[in-house]
Amino acid sequence: MIIVTGGSGTAGRACIDELTAHGYDVTSVDLVPPADPEVPHSRVDLTDFGDTIAAFAGIDDAVSDVTGIVHLAAIPAPGLATNHVTFHTNITSTYNAFEAARQLGIRNIVWASSETVLGLPFDVPPPYVPVDEDYPGRPESSYSLSKLLGETMAEQFCRWTPRTKIIGLRLSNVMVPDDYQVFPGFQDDPSVRKWNLWGYIDARDAAQAFRLALEADRTGADVFVIANADTVMTASNDSLLGELYPDVPRRREVGEHETLLAIDKARRELGYAPRYSWRDSAAAGGR
Ligand SMILES: NC(=O)c1ccc[n+]([C@@H]2O[C@H](COP(=O)([O-])OP(=O)(O)OC[C@H]3O[C@@H](n4cnc5c(N)ncnc54)[C@H](O)[C@@H]3O)[C@@H](O)[C@H]2O)c1
Repeated sequence: MIIVTGGSGTAGRACIDELTAHGYDVTSVDLVPPADPEVPHSRVDLTDFGDTIAAFAGIDDAVSDVTGIVHLAAIPAPGLATNHVTFHTNITSTYNAFEAARQLGIRNIVWASSETVLGLPFDVPPPYVPVDEDYPGRPESSYSLSKLLGETMAEQFCRWTPRTKIIGLRLSNVMVPDDYQVFPGFQDDPSVRKWNLWGYIDARDAAQAFRLALEADRTGADVFVIANADTVMTASNDSLLGELYPDVPRRREVGEHETLLAIDKARRELGYAPRYSWRDSAAAGGR
């Protein structure tokens, strides 16, 4: 069985759908029940270590034989709570998930890090574009710091137990199809979405990345930027970068609408291939 922490949330729902569609036995652990009552769920507080390890160890008929963890439970952005509460919640939940898995011998963990680690909101411009996994983290908020420290914890947990795999996915801004209705409103002002280099991730493509990372035959800690293949903008990257990041060097050529959050590593090492684009949505005049 695969446990999805935070399975009632936006990314969690998509992960449960993706894993279930690929034949996995999945259960969600979350503070709140899922919108879909058919989704197997137990109420668990990930900030409580006893609750976390008890859930991962098994709950009567509800949870058993856990072989992998998709860890998403968190306060998912800066500003939703006070900084110390966001930090405390996220760092504690991630520690508890990693430590409970370690004690129980669960060696396959994929968790949600964040694009913010790349230096969002880029008030200090990025060192180059497309941004990727090759430069040290630059957290600019307590939320982002909690994610960077999660990545650091993953490295140490994998050093302690080298057979373990802990993959952190640095998700871009998660979108569901309804969210595409607001994308036309971004187009008049390129500065509106400059904070994440005009990136996004469709929750269904994020879910694909979680499944692929779960299935990856490897050990150790690693991180991958996960975004869609294109930007949220109809303006070209030449125009956007020329206006808002004129002094940022380009590490390689980028396509007209190609994501500036590089997904090359995820494509190469996980086989990630995003299938969705807001450009195909009704909001953009597509299907
Ligand atoms: N939404 C984004 O744009 C975005 C971007 C980058 C990374 N992420 C990360 O992806 C993950 C999922 O984000 P999301 O957008 O689905 O968020 P969400 O808020 O929709 O879902 C998070 C879920 O976690 C649960 N949760 C929170 N604290 C918990 C606790 N102590 N114990 C158990 N469950 C708890 C919540 O009840 C919620 O259902 C988070 O780790 C977030 O930091 C999100």
